Amino acid sequence: MAGSTWGTLLTMTTWGESHGKGVGVVVDGCPAGLALCEEDIQTYLNRRKPGQSRFTTMRQERDQVEILSGVFEGKTTGTPISLLVRNTDQRSHDYSSIMDIYRPGHADYTFDEKYGFRDYRGGGRSSGRETIGRVAAGAIAAKLLASLGVTVTAYARSIGPVEISMERFDLEAASENKVCMPDREAAKEAESYLEQMLEDQDSVGGVVECVITGLPAGIGEPVFEKLDARLAHAEMSIGAVKGVEIGDGFEAAKAVGSVNNDDFCRNADGTIGKRTNHSGGILGGMSDGSPIVLRAAFKPTPSISRPQQTVNRAGEEVETVIKGRHDPIIVPRAVVVVETMAAFTAADLMLQNAVAKLDNVRKVYER
Ligand SMILES: Cc1cc2nc3c(=O)[nH]c(=O)nc-3n(C[C@H](O)[C@H](O)[C@H](O)COP(=O)(O)O)c2cc1C
Repeated sequence: MAGSTWGTLLTMTTWGESHGKGVGVVVDGCPAGLALCEEDIQTYLNRRKPGQSRFTTMRQERDQVEILSGVFEGKTTGTPISLLVRNTDQRSHDYSSIMDIYRPGHADYTFDEKYGFRDYRGGGRSSGRETIGRVAAGAIAAKLLASLGVTVTAYARSIGPVEISMERFDLEAASENKVCMPDREAAKEAESYLEQMLEDQDSVGGVVECVITGLPAGIGEPVFEKLDARLAHAEMSIGAVKGVEIGDGFEAAKAVGSVNNDDFCRNADGTIGKRTNHSGGILGGMSDGSPIVLRAAFKPTPSISRPQQTVNRAGEEVETVIKGRHDPIIVPRAVVVVETMAAFTAADLMLQNAVAKLDNVRKVYER
């Protein structure tokens, strides 16, 4: 039952249901002295807000964050930071059509089996709204990382069959189009593909790519808390994520060792570098100083308007039609969720790494 907390030294505990009074998170273990205001967090929440395009849900939520604790005179105090986002668009829907049936692709059946009943209003804890707490917590981690020279950036790599081209890669484009793709041509193609999905009353999946730069070598705790293991766990815990790759990922299984190995080299400044980055910046579960590259694969949005075959709570086979308008894709709103989960995980492991060497501990306590 204790599945709502993530992190070891830096922890987040998300809480709330999509149709309750609000959702939020408690972040503990953030060092004192980090400059933090609501705007720092709001900027991230605005990126996952619904109602921003034809391809995302029209639920009109302000998703305004309130800092309830842990910040004084604009700085973190080292005590738990509690963040609240009130639910403001809880229209009194008629849930009778879904309260007794198991929507295909959703968590209705498994919640009922596990707990004996479920919050059927909008999916409860399995709703995409749960990710608000993650994004708010990750925004704090991103600020902490920025103060240590580390940046985390995510974007849509593919939507259905449409993939970005690395030759046309332009990060600015990702904030200009509705599908968060850093390639204007691919974004246009993806948008018309999604128009087709809307017309067909169907949905599609996609891949979010995330890059962490500036992470020094040695971050990650062998053996069970390796950086790649922690990142994979963090990203797989997001609803609808069905696969995570680091570096070449599944493609590495097709490569030969002489190609897959990244040759080391000496950089101009005397530091050790690599000529390629098939490893995605991780060796032996620790960062190797190159950019960390990870990808999260999202399945198609489960809610579609087409009639589907299912079973009700009484065990009878029935046909169901999920009412309302449904997003044909989750990816554009999930980009910031992938980014902030990676930021939080990296920040937690950076804090853990600070006590890996006695020399570091001595520096703190020397008189
Ligand atoms: C940001 C975000 C938004 C989501 N929005 C929707 C949605 O609008 N409709 C839907 O059917 N599923 C949505 N989902 C996915 C479901 O929450 C998820 O597929 C479902 O709980 C079943 O879990 P699973 O896919 O991990 O097995 C969203 C997920 C995320 C991360």
